[in-house]
Amino acid sequence: GFDSDNSSGEFSEANQKVTGMIDVDTSKSDRVGKIGERPPQENGVQNYRTSLPAPMFTRSDFSVWTILKKCVGLELSKITMPIAFNEPLSFLQRITEYMEHVYLLHKACRQTQPLERMQSVAAFAVSAVASQWERTGKPFNPLLGETYELIREDLGFRFISEQVSHHPPISAFYSEGLSQDFLFHGSIYPKLRFWGKSVEAEPRGTITLELLAHNEAYTWTNPTCCVHNVIIGKLWIEQYGTVEIVNHRTGHKCVLNFKPCGLFGKELHKVEGYIQDKNKQKLFMIYGKWTECLWGTDPVSYEAFKKQERRGGHPRKAKLVRGPLPADTHGAEPGRGWGWGAWPAPAQMYNFTSFTVSLNELAMGMEKTLPPTDCRLRPDIRGMENGNMDLASQEKERLEEKQREARRERAKEEAEWQTRWFYPGTNPYTGTPDWLYAGDYFERNFSDCPDIY
Ligand SMILES: *[C@@H]1O[C@H](CO)[C@@H](O)[C@H](O)[C@H]1NC(C)=O
Ligand SMILES: *[C@@H]1O[C@H](CO)[C@@H](O)[C@H](O)[C@H]1NC(C)=O
Ligand SMILES: *[C@@H]1O[C@H](CO)[C@@H](O)[C@H](O)[C@H]1NC(C)=O
Repeated sequence: GFDSDNSSGEFSEANQKVTGMIDVDTSKSDRVGKIGERPPQENGVQNYRTSLPAPMFTRSDFSVWTILKKCVGLELSKITMPIAFNEPLSFLQRITEYMEHVYLLHKACRQTQPLERMQSVAAFAVSAVASQWERTGKPFNPLLGETYELIREDLGFRFISEQVSHHPPISAFYSEGLSQDFLFHGSIYPKLRFWGKSVEAEPRGTITLELLAHNEAYTWTNPTCCVHNVIIGKLWIEQYGTVEIVNHRTGHKCVLNFKPCGLFGKELHKVEGYIQDKNKQKLFMIYGKWTECLWGTDPVSYEAFKKQERRGGHPRKAKLVRGPLPADTHGAEPGRGWGWGAWPAPAQMYNFTSFTVSLNELAMGMEKTLPPTDCRLRPDIRGMENGNMDLASQEKERLEEKQREARRERAKEEAEWQTRWFYPGTNPYTGTPDWLYAGDYFERNFSDCPDIY
């Protein structure tokens, strides 16, 4: 991420200056732990908050170009960025946004045909990157040993993640369906590069989905994400690269090509691809935009559809919608055999969806059940969420210094860092290095968790 490991460097000094220039309302006191403490509804249904406690401050009116022009081509972990570029979430919470469209996994579990299941899994993989649309705030770098859990009984899953390495940054996650229908896990090594006007994030690491009733495992990696105009101009996000989703039991494969924007922007946000069986026979064509929705149909109809489009018709523009598609879109129209649509664009601060808004909520009684490493307890993120930017900056610096100090101590004692909930191993399906869940988190014995805040 943007955070520096060297607080004595000149970038940090610049950071102080820039932070000082941001006009923030510091009259609000620190209310860590009090926000969001409201009783559950009487009917026992958990209500999630629908807005953040404090308004977002603006990032305009200050130029960080003077800091950044020295850093072109550097890895971002070597640069300290002003906190104004952040959003009040940890990267561990951002990963959890995968689960916003978990209904697609439940759907895949219920489907009887491998082609149908692959369609749902492909939609899920694309939906995960859709949440990044218009999200230009940078999440906080997780501290080593930081964890995040999310239990959503209403959505039928629980999720746990841990920062298992600081250099390079690696986040491991594990999720399971509450009705034992799926497992979803992986490790993410975002490699960030700063290219002067843009920041590129190459998400290494494998993602694995297991549909238990079908005894099936799917694996894939995410496309590369690029945030343009980080310094001046209109920010926009591009995703590019090829995502291959493999069903390791049946040999079905889904290839999705996230197109780079191209010279005239014609290809912006476009995704095209297909599903093939183990004999490489194309069964299904997929097209659309990751920001809007995906359509799909059989290869013959797809050819006809392309021809119609080349003749000047605009068959897809007419019907492109944002918002979830009705469940029965299947076969509704020629050329539109199957679809998935992103949820409506949120008008929330930081461009959060309502799912995202709830992620850092510290609901009543939660503090007693969380481990001390949970990101909801991070004072810098909480400070920013509450609109107290000075506190957030101070706390961020304090936490990073504490982390450095702990590392120096370990070096002195020649002690290795021990991860708590995940261990390094090999992905059984791809044979590549991965971090595997050690189990027992939800037993909630947090007696030997490290003190990282
Ligand atoms: C920290 O920053 C100082 C000053 O910029 C530099 O001399 C030093 O090499 C840096 N140390 C590390 C570990 O990066
Ligand atoms: C939110 O989206 C709007 C509209 O595209 C964009 O102008 C703005 O920069 C985004 N804000 C953040 C914090 O990403
Ligand atoms: C919790 O874990 C600690 C250390 O791992 C262990 O000593 C202790 O017995 C455990 N407590 C319970 C109630 O299982």
